Amino acid sequence: MPRTAFAGTGFYVPDRVVKNDELTQYMDTSDEWIIERTGIQERRWVTDGMTSAEMACRASKMAISAAGIEPGEIDAIVLGTLSPDVFFPGTGVFLQRDLGLEGIPALDVRAQCSGFVYGLSVADAWIKSGQYRTILLVGVEIHSTGIDVSTRGRDLAVLFGDGAGAAVLTATDEQDRGVLSTHIHADGNHAEMLWTEAAGSKNHPRISAEDIAAGRHYPRMEGREVFKHAVKRMPEVVMEALEANDLTTNDIDLLIPHQANLRISQMVQRRLGLEDDQVVNNIQRYGNTTAATIPIALAEAVRDERLERGDLLCLVAFGSGLTWGSALVRW
Ligand code: COA
Repeated sequence: MPRTAFAGTGFYVPDRVVKNDELTQYMDTSDEWIIERTGIQERRWVTDGMTSAEMACRASKMAISAAGIEPGEIDAIVLGTLSPDVFFPGTGVFLQRDLGLEGIPALDVRAQCSGFVYGLSVADAWIKSGQYRTILLVGVEIHSTGIDVSTRGRDLAVLFGDGAGAAVLTATDEQDRGVLSTHIHADGNHAEMLWTEAAGSKNHPRISAEDIAAGRHYPRMEGREVFKHAVKRMPEVVMEALEANDLTTNDIDLLIPHQANLRISQMVQRRLGLEDDQVVNNIQRYGNTTAATIPIALAEAVRDERLERGDLLCLVAFGSGLTWGSALVRW
């Protein structure tokens, strides 16, 4: 059975840097509060005209070039996002069009911050089954056009940023490398713990003036509850992956956690007994880019030569849904 190898990675973040101090112009917050509670110093916001498909395309071209393949060799696109450019169709088809890959399937994954790990799970199954040999896996998000930057929305608005990350996955017959396993979960009992209620087809009409006045078109979150679930589920699903492969935390060379809050990542690190240089954190510079955090962090880790052939890489995600998941990769 073929295995799934990471052949190339790439990322794109918008040029516009939004520092914490800029946010104090829009809402009652402070650089100190944001850094102390979240670790975030700045994030990127798109400027008018930039779309999530365009960001995905730029990240994808970098990944394709790094993989040393032609775009035409890609057999399928899997794209995670909670912020599609339009209600439908998904962003994957716009990316497919921009890459000139008419005909190949484009699957959007709706698993929020777990979108990249969920997408990896699907792509890995397709490659192992022999259905496709080369898959473009992308995570992309534009939050800046959908957050409440007034004091009412400050708990969420300070957290999120825009960006895209991509990876080219290829089938390999080498049995000593590639994805070892993926483990994905959900608990819809907490669906409303972090959600955007409008526009939505359950509403008649999908969005009303009343919804807008009440801010139901903005994401809402029970921050403390989300935090508690994240620090429980992330270590748990890492342990599940390690046990499934007869490995222990001592075997992990590099952990890339979803970048939700630096305090969450530090708690996960402590619970797993890992050293600082074994964990990738870039939330300080980008905030939470949801489905894009893991592929952006992976692309930066590759660029910074933090992974060597044979290393054990662990990806772990947690997000709205609730959804969570992990993957172990022999680099
Ligand atoms: N600036 C200043 N004060 C703020 C603020 C902001 N941006 N956001 C909230 N506050 C205030 C609150 O209103 C509250 O004030 P009060 O005590 O007068 O009521 C106070 O700060 C403490 O709020 P609380 O929500 O208890 O803070 P916290 O320590 O839990 O931190 C989060 C808030 C959002 C940073 C934290 O809960 C968190 O990170 N949760 C997980 C979020 C997450 O990861 N989401 C994505 C999952 S993928």
